[in-house]
Amino acid sequence: MSFNTFGHLFRVTTFGESHGAAIGCVVDGCPPRTPLTEADIQPYLDKRRPGQSRFTTQRQEPDQVKILSGVFTDPATGAQVTTGTPIALVIDNVDQRSKDYSDIKNKYRPGHADFTYDVKYGIRDYRGGGRQSARETAMRVAAGAIARKIVPGLTVRGALVQMGEHKIDRARWDWDEVERNPFFCPDAQQAKRYESYLDNVRKRGSSVGAVIEVVAEGVPPGLGAPIYGKLDGDLAAALMGINAVKGVEIGAGFAAAALSGEENADEIRMGNDGKPIFLSNQAGGILGGISTGQPVVCRFAVKPTSSILNPRRTVDRFGSETEIATKGRHDPCVGIRAVPIGEAMVACVIADHYLRQRAQLGESPVWPFARNEK
Ligand SMILES: Cc1cc2nc3c(=O)[nH]c(=O)nc-3n(C[C@H](O)[C@H](O)[C@H](O)COP(=O)(O)O)c2cc1C
Repeated sequence: MSFNTFGHLFRVTTFGESHGAAIGCVVDGCPPRTPLTEADIQPYLDKRRPGQSRFTTQRQEPDQVKILSGVFTDPATGAQVTTGTPIALVIDNVDQRSKDYSDIKNKYRPGHADFTYDVKYGIRDYRGGGRQSARETAMRVAAGAIARKIVPGLTVRGALVQMGEHKIDRARWDWDEVERNPFFCPDAQQAKRYESYLDNVRKRGSSVGAVIEVVAEGVPPGLGAPIYGKLDGDLAAALMGINAVKGVEIGAGFAAAALSGEENADEIRMGNDGKPIFLSNQAGGILGGISTGQPVVCRFAVKPTSSILNPRRTVDRFGSETEIATKGRHDPCVGIRAVPIGEAMVACVIADHYLRQRAQLGESPVWPFARNEK
């Protein structure tokens, strides 16, 4: 069985591979009359685009998105809007260098998916890793740009909070800083240190992992479909679906195991506006699989890039033991470009659950206190 589609009402199907002619996606379920042009999508793709600093792959892909279908001019406003039909998006691949991969044609890169693709399919597009390459994630970012337009008041932002062993100082967290350094790091001082650290890793022919945090603000309370469509469950699946992700946390995540019940309980008081105020957010904005109205906080761990210059022992397709040193253009820390991808996946899941909530219950639920029940 193939599985190239995710989402229930906001459905995204991607196609294409690293060294094919193009990559693309079809976004189905976007409500009609949503303003949408290429200019709404391009800035997010520009954030993920390779070759923008010495700290990411030097593959030069302009990643110019084209909308092929699903939009029309609104006669009332003259603006281009969605029509409610499938939105097809495409990006041409322009900078493939397939010869870089001739060495891995018959060898399996340890840590990469070469082996399992070959085991499963019996055929493998070794050029740039084919479909196993994160080139495909450009289309998730494009779909995420559409998703962001669906939920009113939603802001989804991501940041790199750890590179290798080096964590940021959360006291220095500044969202504006994320846009100012090549690592999407919210801690200016740590970002400076990452420069020499990652230069050193790259020069040694090695790679490192990272932890990314994504925070979604303006998520209405009530999103999530217990019990098999919990918001946290779907977020975990979406983030785990990103290449090289080996762990996902929501809120306090694994650290919750070391907290006491008192520390972990997000106490509730009443605000003057009749809305509840949570005094902390260990839950990461989700209880029982349903959003509380607090920011939704997710974290994911990205493993170090498997394609490294330093030789590793492996086997080939013919069963011979050998070594492999991967040349070609690779990110020394794939976690950096995973930041906009994580944001996009979170936006898609929240948009999907927003539409599901609307389908089942109409607009967002009213706070229990507003029901005037005694
Ligand atoms: C933005 C991004 C870029 C990536 N670039 C590379 C790369 O240049 N070289 C590489 O070996 N892996 C790269 N990866 C990781 C592989 O795609 C991934 O490890 C591989 O498909 C195996 O899947 P798995 O790690 O999820 O098991 C990248 C991942 C992301 C998120």
